[in-house]
Amino acid sequence: MQRIVVLTGAGISQESGLQTFRGEDGLWNHERISDICTPEGFARDPLRVDRFYNGLRAGLAHVHPNAAHKALARLEECSSAGTWDGELLIVTQNIDDLHERAGSRNIIHMHGELMRVRCTSCGATPPWHADCLPQTPCPTCHRPTLRPDVVWFGEIPYHMDRIERALHQCDLFVAIGTSGVVYPAAGFVQQASTHAETMEFNMEPSAGNALFDQTILGPATKTVPLWVRDLLNG
Ligand code: APR
Repeated sequence: MQRIVVLTGAGISQESGLQTFRGEDGLWNHERISDICTPEGFARDPLRVDRFYNGLRAGLAHVHPNAAHKALARLEECSSAGTWDGELLIVTQNIDDLHERAGSRNIIHMHGELMRVRCTSCGATPPWHADCLPQTPCPTCHRPTLRPDVVWFGEIPYHMDRIERALHQCDLFVAIGTSGVVYPAAGFVQQASTHAETMEFNMEPSAGNALFDQTILGPATKTVPLWVRDLLNG
């Protein structure tokens, strides 16, 4: 049985119409990371940060999973149905829900989820589809202490124990659409490469490209479905 860990980044959702973070049209060309994506930025101006994420959340209503998300969901489906002798775990840095909407279930959102908020008083992480503002009360404890359920710079990504275990046990590690500059995700290829094969799908070689055994350049909606098809055809 083949055990695959797929790490996805903003590039896999780019062809669905979501902006990536870096590169020419990247989100971080318009906003300073320190204003939006840090606990200090949120403490300084929670309204600004809430509005930024409200905008992203509203934008999700207008986009759909693409062929790359769907191909990964199909692979998991074949694993569940027993038509592919393998196991797939998706570890995503993305806060969008396009993997889930494509049908993926075995997925870890290491940087949190746009469709949830987190209460800093009681720890609840309710699903959230509307706008969230600094005065919005927590549905559980009613205090106005909600924040986006997103992991910011300086915070520890979610589920690291489970991710480390999966990396340690996998036979193949695949990175799709990530620039490879944000740790700890950028270090996964090094961890996996001690025992597993490694592959990168991206538009251009990522920062850690030299560590991958194989690189496939091109738009994820073209390259990923072909790879899944070949894998399923054994
Ligand atoms: N197909 C494949 N790859 C693509 C596509 C595409 N259609 N479009 C863009 N890419 C590639 C780019 O070449 C780039 O290497 O996707 C990568 C996107 O990189 P980033 O914008 O840096 O996104 P990501 O790596 O996910 O960022 C990591 O940074 O700000 C934080 O928390 C945020 O999770 C995010 C983290």
